[in-house]
Amino acid sequence: MEPAETKSQPPDEQVDLLSSLPSVRVQESYLLYQYQGFWYPPHFVQGIINCQQQFQPRENDIFLVTAPKSGTTWFRALLFALMNRKTHPPQSPHHPLLHKTPSGLLPLLEMVHPSEYDSAACNSLDSNNTRIFSTHMPLATLPKSITDNSSTSSNCKIVYLCRGIKDNFVSFFHFINNNNYLHSPISLEDAFELYCNGKFVIGPVWDQILGYWKESLESPHKVLFMKYEDMKIEPRIQLTRLARFLGNPFSPEEQNSGLIDQILSLCSFDNLSKLKVNNIQEPGVPVTSKSFFRNGVVGDAKNYLSADMVSRLDQITQEKFRDYNLSL
Ligand code: A3P
Repeated sequence: MEPAETKSQPPDEQVDLLSSLPSVRVQESYLLYQYQGFWYPPHFVQGIINCQQQFQPRENDIFLVTAPKSGTTWFRALLFALMNRKTHPPQSPHHPLLHKTPSGLLPLLEMVHPSEYDSAACNSLDSNNTRIFSTHMPLATLPKSITDNSSTSSNCKIVYLCRGIKDNFVSFFHFINNNNYLHSPISLEDAFELYCNGKFVIGPVWDQILGYWKESLESPHKVLFMKYEDMKIEPRIQLTRLARFLGNPFSPEEQNSGLIDQILSLCSFDNLSKLKVNNIQEPGVPVTSKSFFRNGVVGDAKNYLSADMVSRLDQITQEKFRDYNLSL
């Protein structure tokens, strides 16, 4: 989720559109709208429609797709550092990640105004002019020009990142309450009920995950399916896998020079979370950059969820994924 004017009324031109969509009231002044099977805050809906109508992918574009609170910030940093390692060596004291937030470098496509698609991507351009975007859009909602294998965008790559469902929920719960999305904090129980029913930002999360999982099996050259936990457990292997998928593999010299570890260290939670740029509260923006760094611990959900909550989430996840050989 990105900084946005979530408390203000949607502009006039959105009202007709929004009123035609199913909605759910999370709190008095906070509604989510269902668009193409998924639930969004109002500003997302317009951004997605703009994107569907106006975004033109280029050959070699890269899209980092995530469900919110799955490690988007981490992978934005990793992708940027990986693809720009020649122009910006990870140990450079002037590395852009030391001075700009990961979301500033890799903007969320659906939050970018159509007139700024190109300029927003400028920050991420590597030496081959590859644009890198981040998005939360489900596969079926992505502009067809991105997913259509026969079009000029056929070389576009999609990196899909997901995270264990229980940690995803707990991370989300904290994020919402640590920012000014709602007028008053939502209780764990209320948030849990909405999440389980799929009525959460870009929910149902299981459906978003499954869309990309299936596509990664059908088009492995186009979609790489990654897990937050795997990157935690075996970061070198996963970063190497990512580099290879993006057609930018580490050379033997790079592997021997310690470059992989340098990228991982630059993008580590410890490093990024301490940087001044990631601890600034910008005036007028309801989301603090600090709130994108909580603790980054796998399994933290057990400290918040009751046994019943764990078992309910596990059950939903098993049911949703049972036929697809996927576990989270
Ligand atoms: P927790 O709330 O569990 O700590 P997103 O970037 O998609 O919004 O996800 C945020 C989650 O990723 C938060 O999880 C945050 O702490 C974690 N995170 C952020 N930067 C990270 C990093 N460099 N390494 C590992 N996890 C990170």
